Amino acid sequence: MKYATRIASIADVKTPCLVTGVSQARRVARAQGELKLLDAALRDFQDKAGKVCVVQLAAGKTVARLLVAGGADADLDAATFRKIASTAAKTLKTLPVPQAVWALTSAKVKNHDLHWRASAGLSALANALYQFSEHKSKKADDNGSLTLRSVQMLADDRGRATVQRAVRQANALQQGLDLARNLGNQPPNVCNPSYLLKEARKLSRLENVRVSSLDEKRMAELGMGAFLSVTAGTETPARLIVVQYHGGKRGDAPIALVGKGITFDTGGISLKPGANMDEMKFDMCGAATVLGATRAAAEAKLPINIVTLVAAAENMPSGKASRPGDIVRTMSGKTVEILNTDAEGRLVLCDALTYAERFKPGAVIDVATLTGATIVALGSHASAVFSKSDELATALVEAGEWSGDRAWRMPLWDEYQESLKSNFADIPNIGSAGAGAITAACFLARFTGKYTWAHMDVAGSAFQGGAAKGATGRPVGLLFRYLCQQAGR
Ligand code: BES
Ligand code: MN
Ligand code: ZN
Repeated sequence: MKYATRIASIADVKTPCLVTGVSQARRVARAQGELKLLDAALRDFQDKAGKVCVVQLAAGKTVARLLVAGGADADLDAATFRKIASTAAKTLKTLPVPQAVWALTSAKVKNHDLHWRASAGLSALANALYQFSEHKSKKADDNGSLTLRSVQMLADDRGRATVQRAVRQANALQQGLDLARNLGNQPPNVCNPSYLLKEARKLSRLENVRVSSLDEKRMAELGMGAFLSVTAGTETPARLIVVQYHGGKRGDAPIALVGKGITFDTGGISLKPGANMDEMKFDMCGAATVLGATRAAAEAKLPINIVTLVAAAENMPSGKASRPGDIVRTMSGKTVEILNTDAEGRLVLCDALTYAERFKPGAVIDVATLTGATIVALGSHASAVFSKSDELATALVEAGEWSGDRAWRMPLWDEYQESLKSNFADIPNIGSAGAGAITAACFLARFTGKYTWAHMDVAGSAFQGGAAKGATGRPVGLLFRYLCQQAGR
Protein backbone atom coordinates (compact mmCIF):
# COMPACT_ATOMS: atom_id res chain seq x y z
CA MET A 1 0.00 0.00 0.00
CA LYS A 2 1.19 3.46 -0.85
CA TYR A 3 0.37 6.35 1.44
CA ALA A 4 0.39 9.99 0.37
CA THR A 5 -0.72 13.39 1.60
CA ARG A 6 -3.64 15.21 -0.02
CA ILE A 7 -3.75 18.93 0.60
CA ALA A 8 -7.31 20.10 0.12
CA SER A 9 -10.35 21.27 1.97
CA ILE A 10 -12.93 18.55 2.45
CA ALA A 11 -15.38 20.31 0.12
CA ASP A 12 -12.95 20.09 -2.83
CA VAL A 13 -11.79 16.46 -2.65
CA LYS A 14 -12.36 14.21 -5.61
CA THR A 15 -12.08 10.53 -4.78
CA PRO A 16 -13.78 7.17 -5.26
CA CYS A 17 -14.02 6.91 -1.47
CA LEU A 18 -13.88 9.44 1.33
CA VAL A 19 -13.39 8.12 4.87
CA THR A 20 -14.88 10.50 7.38
CA GLY A 21 -17.30 11.08 10.28
CA VAL A 22 -20.99 11.92 10.06
CA SER A 23 -20.76 15.72 10.17
CA GLN A 24 -18.12 16.02 7.45
CA ALA A 25 -19.97 13.42 5.40
CA ARG A 26 -23.06 15.60 5.58
CA ARG A 27 -21.07 18.67 4.46
CA VAL A 28 -19.79 16.80 1.44
CA ALA A 29 -23.21 15.40 0.58
CA ARG A 30 -24.79 18.83 0.92
CA ALA A 31 -22.16 20.33 -1.40
CA GLN A 32 -23.00 17.62 -3.95
CA GLY A 33 -26.74 18.17 -3.48
CA GLU A 34 -27.13 14.68 -2.05
CA LEU A 35 -27.84 15.37 1.61
CA LYS A 36 -31.27 13.73 1.39
CA LEU A 37 -29.77 10.55 0.06
CA LEU A 38 -27.14 10.47 2.80
CA ASP A 39 -29.58 11.21 5.61
CA ALA A 40 -31.89 8.46 4.38
CA ALA A 41 -28.96 6.04 4.32
CA LEU A 42 -27.95 7.07 7.83
CA ARG A 43 -31.46 6.90 9.30
CA ASP A 44 -30.82 3.71 11.30
CA PHE A 45 -27.09 4.29 11.68
CA GLN A 46 -25.70 4.28 15.21
CA ASP A 47 -23.09 7.03 15.29
CA LYS A 48 -20.70 5.31 17.66
CA ALA A 49 -17.24 3.79 17.61
CA GLY A 50 -17.08 0.43 15.86
CA LYS A 51 -20.02 1.20 13.52
CA VAL A 52 -19.57 2.08 9.90
CA CYS A 53 -21.80 2.81 6.92
CA VAL A 54 -20.86 2.98 3.25
CA VAL A 55 -23.00 5.28 1.14
CA GLN A 56 -22.88 5.50 -2.65
CA LEU A 57 -23.41 8.98 -4.02
CA ALA A 58 -24.56 9.58 -7.58
CA ALA A 59 -21.95 8.83 -10.22
CA GLY A 60 -20.05 11.72 -11.79
CA LYS A 61 -19.85 13.75 -8.62
CA THR A 62 -16.55 14.46 -6.89
CA VAL A 63 -16.96 11.96 -4.06
CA ALA A 64 -18.34 8.66 -5.34
CA ARG A 65 -18.62 6.94 -1.96
CA LEU A 66 -18.65 7.95 1.66
CA LEU A 67 -17.27 5.57 4.21
CA VAL A 68 -18.91 7.02 7.30
CA ALA A 69 -17.09 6.09 10.50
CA GLY A 70 -19.33 6.07 13.58
CA GLY A 71 -18.28 8.00 16.68
CA ALA A 72 -15.70 10.13 14.87
CA ASP A 73 -17.31 13.48 15.72
CA ALA A 74 -17.04 13.04 19.50
CA ASP A 75 -14.25 14.16 21.83
CA LEU A 76 -12.21 11.00 21.71
CA ASP A 77 -9.61 9.24 23.76
CA ALA A 78 -6.75 7.48 21.99
CA ALA A 79 -8.18 3.97 22.34
CA THR A 80 -11.56 4.96 20.90
CA PHE A 81 -9.90 6.75 17.99
CA ARG A 82 -7.92 3.57 17.25
CA LYS A 83 -11.10 1.51 17.33
CA ILE A 84 -12.81 3.88 14.89
CA ALA A 85 -9.79 3.93 12.59
CA SER A 86 -9.44 0.18 12.65
CA THR A 87 -13.11 -0.41 11.80
CA ALA A 88 -12.89 2.09 8.94
CA ALA A 89 -9.68 0.51 7.62
CA LYS A 90 -11.14 -3.00 7.70
CA THR A 91 -14.23 -1.82 5.82
CA LEU A 92 -12.11 0.02 3.28
CA LYS A 93 -10.31 -3.23 2.54
CA THR A 94 -13.58 -4.79 1.33
CA LEU A 95 -14.49 -2.01 -1.12
CA PRO A 96 -13.72 -2.19 -4.85
CA VAL A 97 -11.90 1.14 -4.95
CA PRO A 98 -8.36 1.81 -6.20
CA GLN A 99 -7.86 4.88 -4.05
CA ALA A 100 -9.32 6.52 -0.96
CA VAL A 101 -8.97 9.78 0.94
CA TRP A 102 -8.76 9.51 4.72
CA ALA A 103 -10.26 12.53 6.48
CA LEU A 104 -10.23 11.17 10.04
CA THR A 105 -7.01 13.14 10.58
CA SER A 106 -9.19 16.05 11.72
CA ALA A 107 -10.88 14.12 14.57
CA LYS A 108 -10.54 15.53 18.09
CA VAL A 109 -8.43 13.26 20.28
CA LYS A 110 -7.58 14.33 23.83
CA ASN A 111 -3.86 15.06 24.33
CA HIS A 112 -2.95 13.80 20.88
CA ASP A 113 -1.72 16.04 18.09
CA LEU A 114 -2.14 15.90 14.34
CA HIS A 115 1.07 13.90 13.85
CA TRP A 116 -0.26 11.22 16.19
CA ARG A 117 -3.73 11.20 14.61
CA ALA A 118 -2.28 10.78 11.14
CA SER A 119 0.16 8.11 12.36
CA ALA A 120 -2.56 6.20 14.23
CA GLY A 121 -4.78 6.21 11.15
CA LEU A 122 -1.91 5.03 8.98
CA SER A 123 -1.09 2.27 11.42
CA ALA A 124 -4.73 1.10 11.43
CA LEU A 125 -4.54 0.98 7.63
CA ALA A 126 -1.24 -0.90 7.62
CA ASN A 127 -2.64 -3.49 10.01
CA ALA A 128 -5.94 -3.98 8.22
CA LEU A 129 -4.71 -4.07 4.64
CA TYR A 130 -2.01 -6.72 5.04
CA GLN A 131 -2.41 -9.94 3.08
CA PHE A 132 -0.32 -13.07 2.73
CA SER A 133 -1.44 -15.28 -0.12
CA GLU A 134 1.88 -16.37 -1.62
CA HIS A 135 1.11 -20.05 -1.17
CA LYS A 136 -2.53 -20.01 -2.30
CA SER A 137 -2.88 -21.32 -5.83
CA LYS A 138 -5.96 -19.14 -6.53
CA LYS A 139 -5.20 -15.52 -5.78
CA ALA A 140 -8.84 -14.48 -6.24
CA ASP A 141 -11.36 -12.66 -4.04
CA ASP A 142 -11.06 -13.54 -0.39
CA ASN A 143 -7.45 -14.56 -0.59
CA GLY A 144 -5.81 -12.01 -2.75
CA SER A 145 -7.15 -9.30 -4.93
CA LEU A 146 -7.11 -6.09 -2.98
CA THR A 147 -8.12 -3.33 -5.40
CA LEU A 148 -6.92 -0.53 -3.16
CA ARG A 149 -3.56 0.86 -4.29
CA SER A 150 -3.15 4.06 -2.35
CA VAL A 151 -4.64 6.00 0.53
CA GLN A 152 -4.26 9.75 0.79
CA MET A 153 -4.27 11.45 4.17
CA LEU A 154 -6.22 14.68 4.05
CA ALA A 155 -4.47 17.78 5.38
CA ASP A 156 -5.05 21.50 5.17
CA ASP A 157 -2.23 23.93 4.43
CA ARG A 158 -1.38 24.38 8.09
CA GLY A 159 -1.09 20.64 8.71
CA ARG A 160 0.80 19.88 5.51
CA ALA A 161 4.32 19.35 6.92
CA THR A 162 3.07 17.36 9.91
CA VAL A 163 0.96 14.98 7.86
CA GLN A 164 3.72 14.63 5.28
CA ARG A 165 6.12 13.58 8.05
CA ALA A 166 3.61 11.01 9.36
CA VAL A 167 3.10 9.68 5.83
CA ARG A 168 6.85 9.38 5.19
CA GLN A 169 7.30 7.48 8.44
CA ALA A 170 4.27 5.30 7.74
CA ASN A 171 5.58 4.28 4.32
CA ALA A 172 8.86 3.28 5.96
CA LEU A 173 7.07 1.47 8.78
CA GLN A 174 4.88 -0.37 6.30
CA GLN A 175 7.96 -1.85 4.61
CA GLY A 176 9.25 -3.06 7.94
CA LEU A 177 5.91 -4.43 9.10
CA ASP A 178 5.32 -6.28 5.84
CA LEU A 179 8.79 -7.80 6.00
CA ALA A 180 8.24 -8.99 9.58
CA ARG A 181 4.81 -10.43 8.89
CA ASN A 182 5.84 -12.11 5.64
CA LEU A 183 8.85 -13.74 7.28
CA GLY A 184 6.71 -14.87 10.19
CA ASN A 185 4.00 -16.35 7.98
CA GLN A 186 6.32 -18.33 5.70
CA PRO A 187 6.10 -22.05 6.40
CA PRO A 188 9.02 -23.62 8.26
CA ASN A 189 10.07 -25.67 5.22
CA VAL A 190 10.70 -22.36 3.44
CA CYS A 191 11.78 -20.08 6.26
CA ASN A 192 14.89 -21.71 7.71
CA PRO A 193 18.09 -19.95 8.82
CA SER A 194 19.47 -19.74 5.25
CA TYR A 195 16.22 -18.16 4.08
CA LEU A 196 16.38 -15.60 6.88
CA LEU A 197 19.93 -14.78 5.77
CA LYS A 198 18.85 -14.49 2.13
CA GLU A 199 16.02 -12.12 3.08
CA ALA A 200 18.27 -10.13 5.43
CA ARG A 201 20.80 -9.73 2.61
CA LYS A 202 18.15 -7.92 0.57
CA LEU A 203 18.34 -5.12 3.14
CA SER A 204 21.80 -4.26 1.81
CA ARG A 205 20.05 -2.70 -1.21
CA LEU A 206 19.14 0.13 1.13
CA GLU A 207 21.53 3.00 1.72
CA ASN A 208 24.03 2.52 4.58
CA VAL A 209 23.10 -1.11 5.25
CA ARG A 210 25.66 -3.94 5.41
CA VAL A 211 24.79 -7.57 6.00
CA SER A 212 27.09 -10.38 7.06
CA SER A 213 26.80 -13.66 8.94
CA LEU A 214 28.59 -16.18 11.09
CA ASP A 215 28.34 -19.84 10.12
CA GLU A 216 28.58 -22.72 12.57
CA LYS A 217 32.34 -23.06 12.12
CA ARG A 218 32.87 -19.43 13.08
CA MET A 219 30.45 -19.76 16.01
CA ALA A 220 32.43 -22.78 17.25
CA GLU A 221 35.68 -20.75 17.05
CA LEU A 222 34.04 -18.06 19.16
CA GLY A 223 32.97 -20.65 21.73
CA MET A 224 29.22 -20.32 21.24
CA GLY A 225 28.47 -23.70 22.78
CA ALA A 226 24.97 -22.79 23.93
CA PHE A 227 23.88 -21.56 20.50
CA LEU A 228 25.35 -24.62 18.79
CA SER A 229 23.68 -27.03 21.23
CA VAL A 230 20.28 -25.93 19.90
CA THR A 231 21.12 -26.65 16.27
CA ALA A 232 22.77 -30.02 17.00
CA GLY A 233 19.65 -32.05 16.12
CA THR A 234 18.82 -30.52 12.74
CA GLU A 235 20.12 -31.00 9.22
CA THR A 236 19.65 -27.27 8.54
CA PRO A 237 22.70 -25.15 9.37
CA ALA A 238 22.34 -22.32 11.88
CA ARG A 239 23.43 -18.72 11.30
CA LEU A 240 24.12 -15.65 13.32
CA ILE A 241 23.07 -12.84 11.00
CA VAL A 242 24.50 -9.34 11.42
CA VAL A 243 22.81 -6.31 9.84
CA GLN A 244 24.51 -2.97 10.33
CA TYR A 245 22.79 0.31 9.55
CA HIS A 246 24.97 3.42 9.59
CA GLY A 247 22.60 6.35 9.39
CA GLY A 248 24.25 8.21 12.26
CA LYS A 249 27.65 9.72 12.84
CA ARG A 250 30.72 7.55 12.77
CA GLY A 251 31.48 6.71 16.39
CA ASP A 252 27.89 7.14 17.61
CA ALA A 253 27.20 4.08 19.79
CA PRO A 254 24.73 1.85 17.93
CA ILE A 255 21.48 0.56 19.28
CA ALA A 256 21.66 -3.23 19.12
CA LEU A 257 18.55 -5.26 18.31
CA VAL A 258 18.81 -8.99 18.93
CA GLY A 259 16.12 -11.38 17.67
CA LYS A 260 15.29 -14.99 18.51
CA GLY A 261 15.17 -16.76 15.16
CA ILE A 262 14.11 -20.33 15.90
CA THR A 263 12.61 -21.17 12.51
CA PHE A 264 10.85 -24.16 14.02
CA ASP A 265 10.68 -25.18 17.66
CA THR A 266 9.74 -28.83 18.17
CA GLY A 267 11.08 -28.63 21.72
CA GLY A 268 13.90 -30.99 20.75
CA ILE A 269 14.26 -34.13 22.92
CA SER A 270 11.95 -32.38 25.43
CA LEU A 271 9.42 -32.72 22.62
CA LYS A 272 6.36 -30.47 22.55
CA PRO A 273 2.84 -31.94 22.37
CA GLY A 274 1.39 -32.20 18.87
CA ALA A 275 -1.57 -29.82 19.17
CA ASN A 276 -0.87 -26.48 17.45
CA MET A 277 2.78 -27.33 17.04
CA ASP A 278 2.58 -25.71 13.58
CA GLU A 279 2.48 -22.37 15.42
CA MET A 280 6.09 -22.92 16.41
CA LYS A 281 6.99 -21.74 12.91
CA PHE A 282 6.36 -18.33 14.49
CA ASP A 283 9.24 -18.88 16.90
CA MET A 284 11.38 -16.70 14.64
CA CYS A 285 9.11 -13.68 15.02
CA GLY A 286 11.61 -11.93 17.30
CA ALA A 287 14.10 -12.15 14.45
CA ALA A 288 11.50 -11.07 11.90
CA THR A 289 10.57 -8.00 13.92
CA VAL A 290 14.12 -6.79 14.58
CA LEU A 291 14.77 -7.12 10.84
CA GLY A 292 11.49 -5.30 10.18
CA ALA A 293 12.35 -2.47 12.58
CA THR A 294 15.78 -2.17 10.99
CA ARG A 295 14.25 -2.02 7.54
CA ALA A 296 11.80 0.68 8.65
CA ALA A 297 14.62 2.72 10.22
CA ALA A 298 16.75 2.44 7.08
CA GLU A 299 13.82 3.30 4.79
CA ALA A 300 13.14 6.34 6.97
CA LYS A 301 16.87 7.19 6.84
CA LEU A 302 16.94 7.75 10.60
CA PRO A 303 20.19 9.46 11.66
CA ILE A 304 21.26 6.73 14.08
CA ASN A 305 23.39 3.59 14.02
CA ILE A 306 21.83 0.16 14.50
CA VAL A 307 23.34 -3.31 14.77
CA THR A 308 20.83 -6.09 14.36
CA LEU A 309 21.72 -9.65 15.33
CA VAL A 310 19.56 -12.59 14.38
CA ALA A 311 20.14 -15.90 16.14
CA ALA A 312 18.74 -18.29 13.53
CA ALA A 313 18.47 -22.03 14.15
CA GLU A 314 16.00 -24.90 14.08
CA ASN A 315 15.26 -26.90 17.25
CA MET A 316 14.81 -30.56 16.23
CA PRO A 317 15.10 -33.92 17.98
CA SER A 318 17.44 -36.54 16.50
CA GLY A 319 20.30 -38.85 17.41
CA LYS A 320 22.57 -35.81 17.34
CA ALA A 321 20.31 -33.54 19.38
CA SER A 322 21.18 -32.19 22.82
CA ARG A 323 19.82 -34.13 25.80
CA PRO A 324 18.35 -32.89 29.05
CA GLY A 325 21.33 -32.98 31.41
CA ASP A 326 23.89 -31.92 28.80
CA ILE A 327 26.29 -29.21 29.93
CA VAL A 328 27.55 -26.65 27.43
CA ARG A 329 29.98 -23.76 27.60
CA THR A 330 28.73 -20.34 26.45
CA MET A 331 30.83 -17.71 24.67
CA SER A 332 30.89 -15.76 27.95
CA GLY A 333 32.68 -18.66 29.64
CA LYS A 334 29.72 -19.54 31.87
CA THR A 335 28.58 -23.15 31.71
CA VAL A 336 24.90 -24.08 31.32
CA GLU A 337 23.13 -27.29 32.30
CA ILE A 338 20.38 -27.92 29.75
CA LEU A 339 17.56 -29.26 31.89
CA ASN A 340 14.96 -28.81 29.17
CA THR A 341 15.83 -28.69 25.48
CA ASP A 342 12.61 -26.76 24.87
CA ALA A 343 14.08 -23.73 26.68
CA GLU A 344 16.22 -23.18 23.57
CA GLY A 345 15.57 -19.49 22.88
CA ARG A 346 17.68 -18.34 25.81
CA LEU A 347 20.47 -20.68 24.67
CA VAL A 348 20.83 -19.08 21.26
CA LEU A 349 20.23 -15.60 22.67
CA CYS A 350 22.84 -15.75 25.45
CA ASP A 351 25.64 -16.21 22.93
CA ALA A 352 24.21 -13.58 20.58
CA LEU A 353 24.01 -11.18 23.53
CA THR A 354 27.65 -11.84 24.40
CA TYR A 355 28.58 -11.27 20.76
CA ALA A 356 26.75 -7.93 20.88
CA GLU A 357 29.38 -6.60 23.31
CA ARG A 358 31.89 -6.09 20.52
CA PHE A 359 29.75 -3.38 18.93
CA LYS A 360 29.93 -1.28 22.12
CA PRO A 361 26.19 -0.61 21.93
CA GLY A 362 24.50 2.31 23.69
CA ALA A 363 21.56 0.01 24.40
CA VAL A 364 20.66 -3.57 23.56
CA ILE A 365 17.08 -4.74 23.07
CA ASP A 366 16.35 -8.39 22.46
CA VAL A 367 13.01 -9.56 21.12
CA ALA A 368 11.90 -13.17 21.53
CA THR A 369 8.91 -15.48 21.59
CA LEU A 370 10.61 -16.81 24.68
CA THR A 371 8.04 -18.29 27.06
CA GLY A 372 4.50 -19.61 27.18
CA ALA A 373 4.46 -18.09 30.67
CA THR A 374 4.30 -14.62 29.12
CA ILE A 375 1.01 -15.60 27.48
CA VAL A 376 -0.28 -16.75 30.88
CA ALA A 377 0.73 -13.41 32.42
CA LEU A 378 -0.31 -10.92 29.74
CA GLY A 379 -2.29 -12.70 27.05
CA SER A 380 -1.93 -11.11 23.64
CA HIS A 381 -2.57 -7.41 24.28
CA ALA A 382 0.81 -6.49 25.71
CA SER A 383 4.37 -7.54 24.99
CA ALA A 384 6.42 -8.01 28.16
CA VAL A 385 9.35 -5.66 28.82
CA PHE A 386 12.14 -6.49 31.27
CA SER A 387 14.98 -4.14 32.11
CA LYS A 388 17.12 -3.02 35.02
CA SER A 389 17.16 0.41 33.37
CA ASP A 390 14.11 2.50 34.29
CA GLU A 391 14.95 4.87 31.48
CA LEU A 392 15.05 2.21 28.78
CA ALA A 393 12.00 0.34 30.09
CA THR A 394 10.01 3.58 30.25
CA ALA A 395 11.08 4.61 26.75
CA LEU A 396 9.92 1.26 25.36
CA VAL A 397 6.61 1.25 27.23
CA GLU A 398 5.94 4.83 26.07
CA ALA A 399 6.82 3.96 22.49
CA GLY A 400 4.29 1.15 22.76
CA GLU A 401 1.61 3.43 24.16
CA TRP A 402 2.18 5.98 21.41
CA SER A 403 2.19 3.50 18.57
CA GLY A 404 -0.67 1.38 19.90
CA ASP A 405 1.74 -1.58 19.92
CA ARG A 406 1.62 -1.83 23.66
CA ALA A 407 4.00 -3.32 26.19
CA TRP A 408 3.96 -3.79 29.94
CA ARG A 409 6.92 -3.80 32.27
CA MET A 410 7.60 -6.89 34.37
CA PRO A 411 9.94 -7.20 37.37
CA LEU A 412 13.51 -8.36 37.05
CA TRP A 413 14.35 -8.38 40.73
CA ASP A 414 17.40 -10.22 42.04
CA GLU A 415 15.18 -12.45 44.20
CA TYR A 416 14.03 -14.23 41.04
CA GLN A 417 17.63 -15.11 40.20
CA GLU A 418 17.59 -17.55 43.12
CA SER A 419 15.49 -20.03 41.16
CA LEU A 420 18.37 -20.47 38.67
CA LYS A 421 20.58 -22.98 40.49
CA SER A 422 22.37 -25.98 39.02
CA ASN A 423 24.22 -28.70 40.96
CA PHE A 424 26.55 -29.34 38.05
CA ALA A 425 27.07 -26.17 36.02
CA ASP A 426 27.12 -22.41 36.63
CA ILE A 427 23.47 -22.03 35.69
CA PRO A 428 20.56 -24.21 34.52
CA ASN A 429 18.54 -23.22 31.47
CA ILE A 430 15.23 -23.27 33.36
CA GLY A 431 14.06 -21.87 36.68
CA SER A 432 12.64 -24.01 39.46
CA ALA A 433 9.79 -22.04 41.00
CA GLY A 434 7.14 -20.43 38.78
CA ALA A 435 7.38 -17.00 37.11
CA GLY A 436 8.70 -18.63 33.93
CA ALA A 437 8.76 -15.41 31.91
CA ILE A 438 10.80 -13.67 34.59
CA THR A 439 13.25 -16.51 35.22
CA ALA A 440 13.87 -16.69 31.46
CA ALA A 441 14.66 -12.95 31.52
CA CYS A 442 16.89 -13.57 34.58
CA PHE A 443 18.82 -16.17 32.59
CA LEU A 444 19.47 -13.60 29.83
CA ALA A 445 20.38 -10.96 32.42
CA ARG A 446 23.39 -13.08 33.39
CA PHE A 447 24.87 -12.35 29.97
CA THR A 448 24.12 -8.65 29.65
CA GLY A 449 26.13 -7.04 32.45
CA LYS A 450 28.31 -5.01 30.10
CA TYR A 451 25.67 -2.71 28.61
CA THR A 452 22.21 -1.21 29.10
CA TRP A 453 19.75 -3.90 28.13
CA ALA A 454 16.06 -4.65 27.77
CA HIS A 455 14.36 -7.90 26.93
CA MET A 456 10.97 -8.14 25.21
CA ASP A 457 9.03 -11.40 25.44
CA VAL A 458 6.56 -11.33 22.55
CA ALA A 459 5.26 -14.91 22.80
CA GLY A 460 1.71 -13.58 23.19
CA SER A 461 1.81 -10.57 20.86
CA ALA A 462 3.91 -11.59 17.86
CA PHE A 463 1.37 -13.94 16.34
CA GLN A 464 -2.26 -14.98 16.61
CA GLY A 465 -3.71 -18.47 16.56
CA GLY A 466 -7.20 -19.55 15.59
CA ALA A 467 -9.14 -18.30 12.59
CA ALA A 468 -6.95 -15.21 12.13
CA LYS A 469 -3.76 -17.24 12.50
CA GLY A 470 -0.74 -15.24 11.45
CA ALA A 471 2.15 -13.01 12.38
CA THR A 472 1.11 -9.59 13.70
CA GLY A 473 4.38 -7.76 13.05
CA ARG A 474 4.54 -6.72 16.69
CA PRO A 475 6.61 -5.10 18.14
CA VAL A 476 7.85 -3.43 14.91
CA GLY A 477 5.56 -0.45 15.57
CA LEU A 478 6.89 -0.01 19.09
CA LEU A 479 10.52 -0.40 18.04
CA PHE A 480 10.18 2.01 15.13
CA ARG A 481 8.69 4.66 17.39
CA TYR A 482 11.50 4.06 19.90
CA LEU A 483 14.10 4.42 17.14
CA CYS A 484 12.43 7.59 15.78
CA GLN A 485 12.53 9.04 19.30
CA GLN A 486 16.22 8.16 19.63
CA ALA A 487 16.79 9.89 16.29
CA GLY A 488 14.89 12.97 17.45
CA ARG A 489 12.17 12.47 14.80
N1 BES B 1 9.02 -20.93 21.78
C1 BES B 1 8.64 -21.36 23.07
C2 BES B 1 7.75 -20.36 23.80
C3 BES B 1 6.40 -20.15 23.21
C4 BES B 1 5.33 -20.96 23.56
C5 BES B 1 6.18 -19.11 22.33
C6 BES B 1 4.08 -20.74 23.03
C7 BES B 1 4.93 -18.89 21.80
C8 BES B 1 3.89 -19.69 22.13
C9 BES B 1 9.88 -21.58 23.94
O1 BES B 1 11.00 -22.01 23.25
C10 BES B 1 9.55 -22.62 24.92
O2 BES B 1 9.30 -23.73 24.54
N2 BES B 1 9.54 -22.25 26.21
C11 BES B 1 9.21 -23.16 27.23
C12 BES B 1 10.15 -22.92 28.37
C13 BES B 1 10.08 -23.96 29.45
C14 BES B 1 10.62 -25.26 28.93
C15 BES B 1 10.88 -23.49 30.65
C16 BES B 1 7.76 -22.88 27.65
O3 BES B 1 7.36 -21.70 27.66
O4 BES B 1 7.05 -23.82 27.93
MN1 MN C 1 11.07 -24.09 23.02
ZN1 ZN D 1 11.11 -21.54 21.30
